[in-house]
Amino acid sequence: MKQEKKLRSADWFGKDDKMGFVHRSWFRTQGYPDDYFQNKPVIGICNTWSELTPCNGHLRDLAEVVKRGVIEAGGVPLEFPVTSLGETVMRPTTMLFRNLASMDVEETIRANPIDGVVLLTGCDKTTPSTLMGACSVNLPTIVVPGGPMLNGRFRGECMGSGTFNWLIKEKQGVENYSAADILEVETGVARSQGHCMTMGTASTMACMVESLGLTLPGAAAIPAVDARKKVMAQLSGRRIVEMVREDLKLSQILTRAAFENAIVVNSAIGGSSNFIIHLLAIAGRIGVPLTLEDFDAIGSKVPLLLNLKPSGQYLMEDFYYAGGLPVIIREMQSYLHNNTITVNGKSISTNSASAACYNAAVIATVEQPLKPAAGMAVLKGNLCEQGAIIKPSAASAHLLKHRGRAVVFENIEDYHARIDDPALDIDEHCVIVLKGAGPVGYPGMPEVGNVDLPMKLLQQGIKDMVRISDGRMSGTAGGTVILHVSPESSIGGVLALVQNGDIIELDVAARKLHLDVSDEELAARKARWQAPAPRATRGYVKFYIDHVQQAHLGADLDVLRGGSGDEVVRDLH
Ligand code: FES
Ligand code: MG
Repeated sequence: MKQEKKLRSADWFGKDDKMGFVHRSWFRTQGYPDDYFQNKPVIGICNTWSELTPCNGHLRDLAEVVKRGVIEAGGVPLEFPVTSLGETVMRPTTMLFRNLASMDVEETIRANPIDGVVLLTGCDKTTPSTLMGACSVNLPTIVVPGGPMLNGRFRGECMGSGTFNWLIKEKQGVENYSAADILEVETGVARSQGHCMTMGTASTMACMVESLGLTLPGAAAIPAVDARKKVMAQLSGRRIVEMVREDLKLSQILTRAAFENAIVVNSAIGGSSNFIIHLLAIAGRIGVPLTLEDFDAIGSKVPLLLNLKPSGQYLMEDFYYAGGLPVIIREMQSYLHNNTITVNGKSISTNSASAACYNAAVIATVEQPLKPAAGMAVLKGNLCEQGAIIKPSAASAHLLKHRGRAVVFENIEDYHARIDDPALDIDEHCVIVLKGAGPVGYPGMPEVGNVDLPMKLLQQGIKDMVRISDGRMSGTAGGTVILHVSPESSIGGVLALVQNGDIIELDVAARKLHLDVSDEELAARKARWQAPAPRATRGYVKFYIDHVQQAHLGADLDVLRGGSGDEVVRDLH
């Protein structure tokens, strides 16, 4: 253990002067005893609880359990609310507010007498937003993921969160599902507290923080309503107090090796494509060099071990009963940096050494994986000079090498207006191109990339087509969908210049995405191109549009990259 240093909070509470009096006295309104702020680590419990974020609706109760642990270990827990982002309701997309929420977290931690932080997270963006903010301060920090819902149930079958959404048009239009049928799914698929229990973005984020070393081992997969989730929360409360005493900061855990481990694990679990944009942003905050190309180089040849929807059969509850993420980490040791340390001070290999798999149908082995190569492929070409991504394991094999005629939609309104027009000139060999879905253009880069196919093709039994956009896709979705095209169309990327009838060539094995139009013609189109009017002229959204970086950099604001540490020189008087 390192030599104990003076607590950061002592600079507020430990002084004999006027400001010491002010900082202590008002806390007395809450009835704290004399010894409460005397050399006890103050633990900020950063809570993303909100009734507008149903996936995080249980975090107020969970915070109380964290506090038990903090007090047991001799710390002082102080819970604070931060901006919470509810994936299924916020318009136009939670991604527009991820960076805003991170600013709230960062400034709240830095401005207050906090020695260590517990991040209570759940729904998709609540993990990266809080972690990005915490990284820019770099105090000892531990994450307590809120946990997935219990498995969804519908007519005797398991049903995953999110997976039905993408079929609803087909179910209604082709299989004649009634309103009563849909209501039955609606209630059966969300039958307990917690976040989505498919390997969507929330579960991906929980596994990301565990593989980075930021949770106690095994935390990611525990269902929200399982009593062992509370045990994990209480132990995390105890541990953060020790981390403060050891001065074990985020930057000591978040090394380049830890980021590489997270990429390997994300491939092995078949994690969401959103993993890329969030991990890039987190790396940017903590100052670890990480590029879009790293995800392909490190992750694309990693075998798939986890059989979870949307790409597989099972759900997070099954993953937990099968042994959870430590089984994957132990199984993947030949691919990992095994000596990276985690919040409990031990290495990831030590933490997973005794992990046992209790269900081989859910977690496969490296020797006999579900797929030999599972990660994300990064495409390059004139259509995406700074890159685009595709998840080949979620795509159709026959479309991975494809030449097709572009059918172009200038924005999402144009798409909705025309996609089901019986007169639309489109067949299954065409490439659907959606513009205006990038960080600047939408704004906020929503999860619209996996646009539904035209009804007339669905009715012919067509299940997949190549789709290209500068947007993202939900972690619960799949298909031959090319996402995160950078630079985006709204700032004049080549995507903006695609016209109906242009030929687009995709070759995933060669990592190529090419618009078969001559450079001269593209230059002429560019000269005629006019940028769309900005979607906001004031407020946060204007600030976002002016400062957001492109997808290949993680879509953080340029002014938010890096950190400012925990020091605040001036007091309030
Ligand atoms: Fe909140 Fe899926 S909508 S985790
Ligand atoms: Mg989502």
